[in-house]
Amino acid sequence: MAGLYRLIGPALRRLPREAAHELTLRALELGAGRFLGATAAPEPDPPVLAQRLWGLDFANPVGLAAGYDKDARVPDAMLQLGFGFVEVGTVTPRPQPGNPKPRLFRLEQDQAIINRMGFNSGGLDSVCERLSRRIRSGIVGVNLGKNRNTVDAADDYAEGIRRAARLADYLVVNVSSPNTPGLRDLQHRAMLGSLLEGLTKVRDQTGCRVPLLVKVAPDLTSEECEDIAQVALETGIDGLIVSNTTVERPPDLVSRHAQEAGGLSGRPLFAPSTAILAEMYRLTQGRLPLIGVGGIASAEDAYAKIRAGASLVQLYTALVFTGPALVRQIKSGLATLLRSDGFASIAEAVGTAPIRQPFNRAEAAIPRQTSA
Ligand SMILES: Cc1cc2nc3c(=O)[nH]c(=O)nc-3n(C[C@H](O)[C@H](O)[C@H](O)COP(=O)(O)O)c2cc1C
Repeated sequence: MAGLYRLIGPALRRLPREAAHELTLRALELGAGRFLGATAAPEPDPPVLAQRLWGLDFANPVGLAAGYDKDARVPDAMLQLGFGFVEVGTVTPRPQPGNPKPRLFRLEQDQAIINRMGFNSGGLDSVCERLSRRIRSGIVGVNLGKNRNTVDAADDYAEGIRRAARLADYLVVNVSSPNTPGLRDLQHRAMLGSLLEGLTKVRDQTGCRVPLLVKVAPDLTSEECEDIAQVALETGIDGLIVSNTTVERPPDLVSRHAQEAGGLSGRPLFAPSTAILAEMYRLTQGRLPLIGVGGIASAEDAYAKIRAGASLVQLYTALVFTGPALVRQIKSGLATLLRSDGFASIAEAVGTAPIRQPFNRAEAAIPRQTSA
C-alpha cells in the first residue's frame, strides 16, 4: 500500500493542489481505496485505543478533519483507511462555489497548507442525499457552515441541524473558518451565547439528541478562550474542536506561498493550536470532551494533544504530505506510547500534561497577518 502511494504520490504532487485533491476523491469514489490500504474489514484496533464518548464507540481516537470530504463523497472509504471517525463538510445550506482559484497552496518545505477555499459546497441537499444512502457503520460527523450571502448565520446553522441531525453521529457548528467574512466574529461571547442557546433548542426539537460541537479558531486571546469555555459550559453543548486554521504566519516559514492570504494548517499550527487546546481543557476542567486538531503528523503529536486535553484528535494536512499509511502509523505508535507510560486507556491519559499557567498568548502566538 505504502508502495503504491510512493508511486503515485510524486505525480499527485506535480498537479495543482486542488486538481490532485479532486483526482484522489474520484479515485476513492471509484473504489481505489483498497489500493491505498483500505480494507472492507479493517484489522481491529488495539483495545487501549477504544473509547466511549457521547454514547458512541470509537475504536480509535484518530479522525479525519473537516474540509477533506466537504460533500460527503467518500466517508466510508476514509473509514476503511483506518480512521476512527470522519468529519464531512463544511456544508452550507445552499450550493456555493467558494472563492476564485487558485485558493489552495502547498508549503512543501514547511509541511503546511494555506487555503482560502471559502466554503465551496455542494449544499445540504446533495450531502444529505449521499448520507441517507449510506449503510451506517462507522462514526461520521457533519460540519455545518453558513452561505456567504446569508445575513443571519443562525438560520443557516439551524437548517443544517434540522436536515442533518438524523444522518450524522455528531454535528459541528463551524464558527472559525477564516475565509467567510464575519464568521469568526460569532465566537465573541454575546453572539456565541445566543447562537448556541438557539441551536441547542433546535437540536432538541429534532427529537434526536445528536451531539452538538463547536469548532474554534487558534487565534484567540486568553479572554476569548475564557468566554468561549464559559459559554460552552453554560449552553450545554457537547464538545469543542480545537482548532481550525490560523490567519497568523510564523516568521520562519520559508515556502514560496507563505504569504498567501487564507488559513494556515500543518506543522506550524501544531504549537499554537495545542496551547489553545490545553487552555480550553484547563478552563472547562475536563467537563467537556475536546477534539484536538492542528499539525498532527505523528503518534507523538497525537499523544501530545491527548495529554494536553484532547479525547479525540483529527488531521488533514499531514495526510496530504505522508499519505494514508500515516493513519496506521499513528495508531500503533499511540498504543505503544500509552502502554509505555502505564495508561490502560486514552481516557486515563487525557489532560495529564503539566498545566502551564497562566496561559501566555505571547508565547504561543505567531505574528498576525491580515485576515483572508
Ligand atoms: C484545504 C483545507 C480545507 C479545509 N476546510 C475546512 C472546512 O471546510 N471546515 C472546517 O471546519 N475546517 C476546514 N479545514 C481545517 C481542518 O479541518 C483543520 O482544522 C486544520 O487544517 C488543522 O489540521 P491539520 O493541521 O491537521 O490540517 C480545512 C483545512 C484545509 C487544509
